[in-house]
Amino acid sequence: MSDKKTQYITSEQMLVQREYTEKIRLRNELDARETGKKKRCYVRTFGCQQNEADSERLAGMASEMGYEITDSEQDADLILINTCAVREHAEERALSITGQFKHLKEKNPSLLIGICGCMVSQETRKERIKHSYPYVSFLFGTSMLYRFPEILYRCIQEQKRQFYLDAGDVGNIAEGMPVRRASDRQAWVSVMYGCNNFCTYCIVPYVRGRERSRHPSCILEECRQLIEQGYREITLLGQNVNSYGKDLSDDIRMDFPDLLAQICSLPGDFKVHFMTSHPKDASKKLINVMAENEKAAKHFHLPLQSGSDRVLSAMNRRYTIADYLEILRYMREKMPDITVTSDIIVGFPTETEAEFEDTLTAVAAAQYDQIFTFLYSPRTGTPAAVMEGQIPEKIKQSRMQRLLDLQNSILADRNRACIGRTYRILVEGRSRGDDAMYAGRTEGGKLVHFPVSEDEDLTGRIALVRITDAAIYHLSGERVSDTDVDEG
Ligand code: 5AD
Ligand code: SF4
Repeated sequence: MSDKKTQYITSEQMLVQREYTEKIRLRNELDARETGKKKRCYVRTFGCQQNEADSERLAGMASEMGYEITDSEQDADLILINTCAVREHAEERALSITGQFKHLKEKNPSLLIGICGCMVSQETRKERIKHSYPYVSFLFGTSMLYRFPEILYRCIQEQKRQFYLDAGDVGNIAEGMPVRRASDRQAWVSVMYGCNNFCTYCIVPYVRGRERSRHPSCILEECRQLIEQGYREITLLGQNVNSYGKDLSDDIRMDFPDLLAQICSLPGDFKVHFMTSHPKDASKKLINVMAENEKAAKHFHLPLQSGSDRVLSAMNRRYTIADYLEILRYMREKMPDITVTSDIIVGFPTETEAEFEDTLTAVAAAQYDQIFTFLYSPRTGTPAAVMEGQIPEKIKQSRMQRLLDLQNSILADRNRACIGRTYRILVEGRSRGDDAMYAGRTEGGKLVHFPVSEDEDLTGRIALVRITDAAIYHLSGERVSDTDVDEG
């Protein structure tokens, strides 16, 4: 299974990792026999869904090495910090948490602390950790994930700190890592890794390497197994899922719409979500596949980033606002109730007041169900970080507030329009704020509260709920038994 661009980790290489896994498992088993206590591993995750998916693999590998996965760092023997680098704030939080773990190491000198993920995949951060955080025992970059058992083993056996950056491994794909999924209803399935787009603000291409696609049959098999195990929601992950397949060799090449169609044709009761899509590659073919397949969740995350063509060009996004709105128009023509979400960056270098107002205009036109808003954060090594015309923090913050105010008023109107309609709700459990209410989500991800009835537990099940009231962040409703369901 190989082609000219993407190199797959061979099963022999994976076998080597299994041998390290086994060695640690035996050590841990002996140790548990002596102490009467199983070793525990705590995994802390920052950042995006890809990182969450990676953490499920770290937890899976740790489980196979004989560690019990714990929710508390206090009683852990092994702590893994899976970091993010997309914004400075995420890096600061990861470093601050790492700092807080120092006292745990002082209390328990045999505690092992490891750091991985995007932040430490930058040489400068790796060096900083090495020198300023002496209690960190090991570190590895994003494409070294599959070598975690080996790195941990070396750390224990050689009693020496281990620091591994990507060392030529960027561009690899490893199959067959154990996974310990955080949910038994919703599962992440990575379809590809890395990014080739080089948006001028973004660190991702530098820390996750070039685009590389998993073999379609591995993805289909993983989905098939998940559905068989009872998973109801599958989210396909990639930095830009629309690039899926471009690097595959001719004999197995498949594009993302075809992959989605094949997954949707698997038997079973489930929905398929995906993220993220780059607007320059979001094709009508993909929209048609979503519209035609009942199992494709009617949710599209389509990051706009800015509503100004000049700023989009400076960001190297390669679409215009007119292109973007045309995709939305087509999507809503085919799927009138589709939920659309977006990412917006405020205060990109050189963004003028008028250009920011173009973003407000675009957001009003797009009528999103949710937006994720970010203050532009300069990332060392990216072109935008050294552009003239960086925007003062205060201006960024005031623009952000104006954007949020606009989106809240849009949401209030959109949510009010849901009153009287009936939705199929996947019940997540009791509402955090009110034990007498269930919290669940529509297929499009809208949060819905409805009263708990004493006779049955609906957690994890689908309920039909008619919406009776709407706030900005959630809808309220009552359970109904009719089958007249509106999508959304
Ligand atoms: N500053 C602010 N936001 C950023 N994002 C990516 N890089 C930066 C940055 N340097 C945002 C983009 C992307 C989301 C995941 O994070 O909006 O879509
Ligand atoms: Fe970053 Fe752009 Fe790639 Fe998304 S598409 S990961 S924003 S470079």
